[in-house]
Amino acid sequence: MHFDEDKLKQYYENPPEDISLDDVDMARIPRHVSIIMDGNGRWAKARGLDRSEGHVAGVSSLREAVTTSVRLGVDVFSVYAFSTENWKRPQHEVDLLMHLFATTLLKELPLFFQENVRLRFFGDIEALPEETRKVFEEGLEKTAGNTGMTFALAVNYGARAELVRASRLIASEVAAGTLSLDDVDEDAISSRLYTAGLPDPDLVIRTSGEMRLSNYLLWQIAYSEFYVTSVLWPDFSRWDYLRAVKSWQGRHRRYGGVEAAS
Ligand code: IPE
Ligand code: IPE
Ligand code: MG
Repeated sequence: MHFDEDKLKQYYENPPEDISLDDVDMARIPRHVSIIMDGNGRWAKARGLDRSEGHVAGVSSLREAVTTSVRLGVDVFSVYAFSTENWKRPQHEVDLLMHLFATTLLKELPLFFQENVRLRFFGDIEALPEETRKVFEEGLEKTAGNTGMTFALAVNYGARAELVRASRLIASEVAAGTLSLDDVDEDAISSRLYTAGLPDPDLVIRTSGEMRLSNYLLWQIAYSEFYVTSVLWPDFSRWDYLRAVKSWQGRHRRYGGVEAAS
């Protein structure tokens, strides 16, 4: 996707010692970057703060990561914000997160217009508390006409629930006679996932050092490259993002085939 060279250079001024814009090939930016944002609680604990303070600090990181994605010219930027399993957390933490999602999204709508970003959600947002659901629906509606980057927020998302949902959709169409069994193929499944129409992630980043997927995008990341950093989400900066892209550019994706002759 298109990126603004002047804005990008300015954005990446004063680099740290180990990484700079010169380390990445701007002609080879991943189309879809996805982040499993983890470590807010540990970040807060290390500072003697309440977990909620970690989530609030995490919002600033997310804002920066959205801007970084736009500056780098990523087509789709998605983040895992709340899983179907996160309902198991203490009620006050769940309430705080839901409220934080709503207030942040409302506050950041001008950023989406300024950067021409279109919003999208992965997950069952119908089941969210009313305040959050309404703001999400408003965000969807208002940014639908934006033509730049797609920013997808996975909330009340679980890959297994997503696959169950797709299976039910397919089964009901087959039962109704509107879909034949022969047409149930990979595309039929992909097009009934929350990610329908989007390219699969090229690069999945997980912060805070955990080497697991926690029920995130199981189908879509079959061939994604995985990058784990020990940086906790509230500390994740534009430089960490660049480090991940640099690492990704050094990988050789084979998709089950053999290395192309160079
Ligand atoms: C990630 O941080 C944010 C959400 C899952 C909402 P955590 O809250 O999982 O932080 P840790 O893993 O306990 O440090
Ligand atoms: C993964 O983080 C989910 C999100 C980032 C929303 P968790 O903190 O919930 O995952 P586990 O419990 O470490 O697997
Ligand atoms: Mg966690």
